This record gives sequence, C-alpha cells and structure tokens, in this order.
Amino acid sequence: MPDLKIALVYFSATGVTAAYAGAITKKMTDLDCRVDQINITSFDARQKPLPVCEYDAFIFGFPVFSDFAPIVVNDWLNLLNGCGKKCATFFTYGGRTTGYAHFHTGQILEKANFKVEFSAEFLGPHSFNIGGWTALSERPNEEDLNIAGEFADLAVERFSQPEPSGFKLQKPFGYNQILEIRQKPPKKTERGWTNPVRVDGECDLCRICEEECPSAAFNVDTGLSDIEKCIGCMHCVYICPNHVIHIDARMKDAYQNFLADWNLTEAIMSAKKSKIITQPWQANC
Ligand SMILES: Cc1cc2nc3c(=O)[nH]c(=O)nc-3n(C[C@H](O)[C@H](O)[C@H](O)COP(=O)(O)O)c2cc1C
Ligand code: SF4
Ligand code: SF4
Repeated sequence: MPDLKIALVYFSATGVTAAYAGAITKKMTDLDCRVDQINITSFDARQKPLPVCEYDAFIFGFPVFSDFAPIVVNDWLNLLNGCGKKCATFFTYGGRTTGYAHFHTGQILEKANFKVEFSAEFLGPHSFNIGGWTALSERPNEEDLNIAGEFADLAVERFSQPEPSGFKLQKPFGYNQILEIRQKPPKKTERGWTNPVRVDGECDLCRICEEECPSAAFNVDTGLSDIEKCIGCMHCVYICPNHVIHIDARMKDAYQNFLADWNLTEAIMSAKKSKIITQPWQANC
C-alpha cells in the first residue's frame, strides 16, 4: 500500500461534518495514511492558502445548506488550484436531501483542476435541532459510521491507483433553473428565524461568536447577525460557551410543517441511509 498523505478539508458549523471527518481520519490512519484535518469553518481559516503541493490527495467534507454546500465554501473552492490531484467529496445532511451538492461542488472542484473520484452522503442531526427540531437526533449510528469507514477504504484504494477513475455525475434535473434562481436571490429586508441574536444573559465578551462566524456576520457589540451576510449555519449558537445566542421561536414550527408538507413521519426519516456514490445516476435528487 503506498504511503499517502491526505488533507481532509471540512466545514462544520454544528459538529456533524466534524464527527464524520473524525471517523474517516481514524480509519485512514489505521490504513497507514497520514491525514491532516483542515477545518475551514471560520472566515479567517479561509484566508490562508491551501498547501495543495504538500498532499497526494484531498477529501472535502461539507454540510448541505438548502441543497448546496454552504455558499462561503463554494466561493472559496472557486479560488483553488488542485494541480490535477485526486479528491473525494462527502456531504452531511439532516434527512431532507443533499440536493444538487454533489454535482455542483463536483463541477467547481473539476474546474479548479481536482479529479473527483467519488462522493458520499452521510446523515446527521439537522443543524436546526439547536432551535428545537428533532430531526435525526440519534445519528450518526453504527451503520452510518461503518459507511464512513467504507468511504475511507475506497479513498485509499482509488487514491493509490495511478490513473483517475473517470467518475462523472449526471446533471440533476432542474439544475440550470435552480442556479438561475440562486444568482438573483431576493434582497432580505427583515430578520428571519435563522438569523441568531444574543439574548439577555451572561455574555462575557469572549468574542468567539464574532471570530468563528463563517461569514463574518455576527457583531458582538450589537448582539446581532447581519441579515445580508448570515448564512443561518447555527455555528454561533453552537459555540457560545454561555449559551446566550438564540434563534427565533418560529424555528420549532418549521420542522412540523416540513414533515406535514412532505407527508413524512419520524419513522420514515430514521429509515434513511448514508451512502457512497460511485455511479453517475446515484446523486440525482
Ligand atoms: C441553513 C441550513 C440549511 C440546511 N438545508 C438542508 C437541506 O437542504 N437538506 C438537509 O437534509 N439538511 C439541511 N440542513 C441540515 C444540515 O445539512 C445538517 O444538519 C448537517 O449535517 C450539519 O453539518 P455541520 O454540523 O457539520 O454544520 C441545513 C442546515 C442549515 C443550517
Ligand atoms: S460567544 Fe457568547 S459569551 Fe462569547 S462574546 Fe459571543 S455571545 Fe458573548
Ligand atoms: S451569525 Fe449567521 S453565519 Fe455567523 S455563525 Fe451565526 S448563524 Fe452562522
């Protein structure tokens, strides 16, 4: 087995993607690879160059936010040069769908001169559980983590081959139309339920919320997130040591409405499975 040096680059606002990154790293290390985890969640972390030359191959792991990888991640990937190196992607999601993420981020990586070998999707608690949802709160389970282990096995196998696998996903139905809509988002004029605010309580001005915000949107002096910049990732709510950043109570109802609108039950949600994607048609939403 060749001695591979891998960079596992991930974004994780509420710890789900980080948990899968940890499981994949452990398995790859057991397989004698050297793995560096590169956490690009904070705005500052994405200001440093990615040392592409130092690694044999890359794994990119991101959550899905409304069918795509977070916009700040895709913007950052657009600036990279992968120098023809191989990579694999994985996306974590809260039980709705990974939507267009595999294809869209795959296209960005190919354009940035990476060779995408395969992808995967892993289930985890929905980020909005932090605001009162209960979506997949028991995941990842043993089966999910076993699939993460299989992902690591396949990465070592594919990264050890001299030639790229030629993996290419089909363009998902409705992709061009959704991209067009995303390019002209309506201007936000009022604070939505995903824009956190600091509530009265014990803020000790540690400024972590401001420093760690992925889009430089949280202002510790006002206690507000900028509605134009905030991507609703829940990271500030998750990391505030004093638990004084909250989201709107309307957040709770949105989950029940989601289940009702799609005729879903908790049993249907928990029956969903994590999976590895090696065939073009597997990532269609
Ligand atoms: C703004 C936002 C939008 C989301 N959209 C989706 C979605 O479209 N489909 C889905 O299944 N999960 C969605 N989620 C849930 C996350 O994809 C999921 O919880 C993910 O594993 C969180 O990873 P992290 O903790 O590493 O950030 C969304 C979460 C946020 C914050
Ligand atoms: S992370 Fe919490 S305690 Fe620290 S400055 Fe922000 S609101 Fe205050
Ligand atoms: S202010 Fe918005 S973008 Fe920043 S950490 Fe909080 S939820 Fe995420």
